[in-house]
Amino acid sequence: MSTGPVDPTTTAAWADLQRLADAFEPDLRSAVTPSWVAAQTSTAGDLFVDLSKNLWDADVEAALLRLADQVDVAGRRSAMFAGEHINVTEDRAVLHTALRLPADATLEVDGQDVVADVHEVLDRVFAFADRVRSGDWTGVTGRHIETVVNIGIGGSDLGPVMAYEALAPYRKDGLACRFISNIDPTDAGQTLEGLDPETTLFIVSSKTFGTLETLTNARLCKAWLLERLPSGTDESAAVAQHFVAVSTALDKVADFGIDPANAFGFWDWVGGRYSMDSAIGLSLVVAVGPEHFADLLAGFHTMDEHFRTAPPEANVPLRMGLLNVWYANFLGAHTHAVLPYSQLLHRFPAYLQQLTMESNGKSVRWDGEAVGYDTGEVFWGEPGTNGQHAFYQLIHQGTRLVPADFIAFANPAYPLTDGDTDVHELFLANFFAQTKALAFGRTPDEVRAEGVAEELVSARTFPGNRPTTSIMAPALTPSVLGQLVALYEHITFVEGAVWGIDSFDQWGVELGKQLAQQLGPAVSGDASVLAEQDPSTQSLIGYYQENRG
Ligand code: F6P
Repeated sequence: MSTGPVDPTTTAAWADLQRLADAFEPDLRSAVTPSWVAAQTSTAGDLFVDLSKNLWDADVEAALLRLADQVDVAGRRSAMFAGEHINVTEDRAVLHTALRLPADATLEVDGQDVVADVHEVLDRVFAFADRVRSGDWTGVTGRHIETVVNIGIGGSDLGPVMAYEALAPYRKDGLACRFISNIDPTDAGQTLEGLDPETTLFIVSSKTFGTLETLTNARLCKAWLLERLPSGTDESAAVAQHFVAVSTALDKVADFGIDPANAFGFWDWVGGRYSMDSAIGLSLVVAVGPEHFADLLAGFHTMDEHFRTAPPEANVPLRMGLLNVWYANFLGAHTHAVLPYSQLLHRFPAYLQQLTMESNGKSVRWDGEAVGYDTGEVFWGEPGTNGQHAFYQLIHQGTRLVPADFIAFANPAYPLTDGDTDVHELFLANFFAQTKALAFGRTPDEVRAEGVAEELVSARTFPGNRPTTSIMAPALTPSVLGQLVALYEHITFVEGAVWGIDSFDQWGVELGKQLAQQLGPAVSGDASVLAEQDPSTQSLIGYYQENRG
């Protein structure tokens, strides 16, 4: 293991923060003054970010910035951008930022011209997508492709799905994408329903090309295709026309029977959850077209440059990451809500769950030492206003502290009225109302002044001081989506850097994968494997065997 990180709890800034937290008595009603709002509002690219309704003050912010200094977040950031092997446990560079460098940039890593590699693949991805979109690429019977099915899971699914939904207004008519991720055969069964095999193209997306779910679903889809194409169709020609792959393991792609000419590579320095802007985005490129995908990449790059170059006091991902550390380590928050006021972002919280929780759900530091402090945040959320009618009650009046990020856009994708009212304005009024209600609440006296009976006053009081960050942008364009995703990537990075953990490995998912392989025979009836299991697992498998029809 390399030299260890600084234990953040040993820094002077950590002690300062502890003292500040002990004495902290937030009162957003008095704190949110015009000058505070001005000081706490920043722009990063097209994002307008208001941090003023958070539970911190200038002293806390200054101490957090000192903490970043004392654990050397900036040094780790430079190491990441330069391609040093900061993914220590896998001995890899972490270079998702290179995926969005412009073609004329230069970056050599481990003796390799990374920018040239990225753009060589990107050009092939764009050319392929153009062929599918124009109808030049056909299925084996000569018909144009109408549906693209991405088969992948985790980072090889969540990003493409999220962005496909988010950029729905940019999709090409007559060309739909569907996504199969779960090994539950219901997923493939439902997704394939109604599809015409002659007009369906499968993209097998897997960084490792070794993931059980994806390979099983790929085989299932291959069988589905071959059974349904006109009899006499040449099988290898069918696979060649209907299957392409995205992977870092191009040898395994060939073993699966996919022509390497129809495979798009990426590199081990792209983490799965950081890969939607690599060739893993192929389904999205087909759906929205190379030009919009290029705008998405430019958006990512805008945020990368902001993170890399903006001074600490104006650096939005740095400040948001530090705020999250403040909430998690000093104010006792366990979870973090992300509440997009955009139906198009309905998969954004799920996407962020992998990004943030697979990255920062660690209890050892990158030198292998156990951490002595909390790491990670449980990210969750749903679009507003749906969430308002479900779980906001707990955020407004519950006993737990739930910092929440609210995201909204000035211009709707679908500007509709109900005859009189611009419905987007009604929608945004809810966005503004919620952050206001959470911050400022309603005092018992204000409730009484509304004529509420005394015995109901406490139930109808809102304590306020519930922290929110508001993120706004002119519209949900491809570029803005790229900026948003990169913002959260860098927030995640900052938290991991403070905590001294390797945000880029994911060993915690391995044990379950191994055990699933071992248990397979027991589930299928191998009594000797079953006998080796613990009593609870034996009992559960026994229940399955008795009840399977
Ligand atoms: O099991 C977790 C994981 O490794 C994720 O990190 C990754 O995004 C996902 O599985 C899928 O992996 P692959 O792209 O290699 O199939």
